[in-house]
Amino acid sequence: MRVIVERDLDGVSRTAAQFVATLVRRKPTCVLGLATGSTPLGMYAELVRLHREERLDFSRVVTFNLDEYVGLDASHPQSYRTFMQRNLFDHLNIDHRNTHVPDGRALDFDVYCERYERMIRDEGGVDLQVLGIGTDGHIAFNEPGSSLGSRTRLKTLTNETIRDNARFFGSEADVPRLAITMGVGTILESRQCLLLASGEHKAKAIRDTVEGPVTAQVTASALQLHRDVITVVDEEAGRLLERRSYYREVEQAQTLLRSGRFGQAQ
Ligand code: F6R
Repeated sequence: MRVIVERDLDGVSRTAAQFVATLVRRKPTCVLGLATGSTPLGMYAELVRLHREERLDFSRVVTFNLDEYVGLDASHPQSYRTFMQRNLFDHLNIDHRNTHVPDGRALDFDVYCERYERMIRDEGGVDLQVLGIGTDGHIAFNEPGSSLGSRTRLKTLTNETIRDNARFFGSEADVPRLAITMGVGTILESRQCLLLASGEHKAKAIRDTVEGPVTAQVTASALQLHRDVITVVDEEAGRLLERRSYYREVEQAQTLLRSGRFGQAQ
């Protein structure tokens, strides 16, 4: 796993946006996996800026979001569809038909979840999956104890996640108890993962994810089994990483390699 430690959330957002933008330029028909929550907001703002100022073209990009609350209509102010429209899609030249957010009001969830997986496959799979991380180490809504082979399905949110997300709803009582979410197995099939974290409250989850054992109790730790994961954290979220100086050395060596000056540094 590649680990990049940035000074603050601004640095995380800019670096993450560069990874996405590079892919969109290289493969204009790419399939992006997207996350909601506070963490990717700055990255989305930077992508909107790159679209406006540098004509980053999303006209043929396809997106699949990780999750959606069960029971919320797409037009609900706190639905993840609304979140994506407000913070990203409405500001890009993306084709609305190419943006997919799970339907929290599906009539038959088993059938719908299978269909969501099929839609991802039919588009050729996710090229780059953007991920945030919960304070309990979840990715998407794969709460502790989720199968590391899980597929898109319904999941009951933990009290910790409900508490964490109450800030968007006003009170804990208003947070839906169920979500439809891509599974850990679904996420591991994407060609590349970009895990973002910011803030002291994510430090333990990041340490467990990057340096702890692979365990269903910290579903993000399953990313250790993926061959191409880039973790971008700020100083605070990376504070508990024991090997952080090594991660910095790796990044420095990579920079030298790219500039062709590696030999001179030895
Ligand atoms: C959201 C999602 C969640 C969040 C996680 C962190 O689509 O899949 O796993 O990424 O709960 O949320 P924030 O970024 O708000 O701390």
